[in-house]
Amino acid sequence: MLGGTWFLGRAVVVEALSRGWEVTTFTRGRSGIPVPGAVAVHGDRENADDVARLAAQGPWDAVVDTSASELAPVTVLLGTRALAPVAARYVYISTVNVYEGWPSEPLSLDSPVLDGPPDADVDYGRLPADWTGPDYYYGRQKAGAERAVLAAFGADRASLLRPGVILGPGEYVGRLPWWLRRAERGGRILAPGDPRKTIQPVDVRDVAAFALDQAQQTGLQVHNVVAPIGRETMGGFLEACMTATSSTGELVWVPDEVLLRSDLRQWSEIPLWRTHPGVWQVDGTSAVAAGFRSRPIAETVADTWAWLSQGNLPVPHARWGEHGISPEKEINILAGLG
Ligand SMILES: NC(=O)c1ccc[n+]([C@@H]2O[C@H](COP(=O)([O-])OP(=O)(O)OC[C@H]3O[C@@H](n4cnc5c(N)ncnc54)[C@H](OP(=O)(O)O)[C@@H]3O)[C@@H](O)[C@H]2O)c1
Repeated sequence: MLGGTWFLGRAVVVEALSRGWEVTTFTRGRSGIPVPGAVAVHGDRENADDVARLAAQGPWDAVVDTSASELAPVTVLLGTRALAPVAARYVYISTVNVYEGWPSEPLSLDSPVLDGPPDADVDYGRLPADWTGPDYYYGRQKAGAERAVLAAFGADRASLLRPGVILGPGEYVGRLPWWLRRAERGGRILAPGDPRKTIQPVDVRDVAAFALDQAQQTGLQVHNVVAPIGRETMGGFLEACMTATSSTGELVWVPDEVLLRSDLRQWSEIPLWRTHPGVWQVDGTSAVAAGFRSRPIAETVADTWAWLSQGNLPVPHARWGEHGISPEKEINILAGLG
């Protein structure tokens, strides 16, 4: 496990141990506490000596890489080259952001992937501070990282898994936790857009189980890891938040046109709200055919509330604070509905 001490990585370790597998985690030792039962090796993926020290502890049947959300392709390449001789297979957690068309158009596995060389550094794709166009930095970095996996593990020993939004117990990004806290607070709650709009988040535990299934696969596997289009809706999601928190509040649905006039940061100020037509139109049928099962979102919501209610918060994370609309702004928008 590259990563393995929080959120997705932690869920993978818990699932692997429950399957009776032997697990080694590799982290710097800063984020989260190692899961009991896993062998914890500490080191930095950006440090060639640390990576060589890790490789010397092999061999392994598979590597699952969840720790690369902020690591440059060249850093991923350092690891994949060192591990290719001592690991039979590499499962890389990528993202739907690698597609050129996300979030503006419907996507399938055939959709074009962004550029991004396997040896790109952290500055590749960075945009000027005053840039106002689409931001493909993260997508280009992850696309380069996918190529770094293929460069070392070839086209026959790798799985590239592309989730959209991952929610569930342990979420540090703060999307579902914000909605749960908002529902708990009650009052008139700004519900964005159309309640019938489909959404495709997946549960962290389901992604973890699929990553381990993929560790036992052969050949090159590439899958979008999303809930089926049309199964879950924004309305169902928010109702689940209301139910889980026993909210006394009222959902007030505000059309996209009104919100678009309100100077809101989509995706973060109102978590999961984004008007781009392709954001929740990702075809995940190949993953389902390969065994991916995604539980109903109401179960994810209820379990995340149970986790939050126990006072849990994994590690302080900058992204947590990015989420949510201020109470004053919410009141103003609702007051303007007439
Ligand atoms: N959250 C989502 O909605 C979403 C959606 C799509 C895809 N993804 C992908 O899913 C993965 C998320 O995994 P995650 O949330 O479990 O974790 P993460 O935030 O990507 O990574 C954190 C883990 O990696 C370790 N780590 C970070 N930098 C390291 C370094 N230089 N050397 C060694 N270890 C390092 C951390 O431990 P230390 O700090 O102790 O080193 C920690 O265990 C990412 O690849 C992300 O791109 C996420």
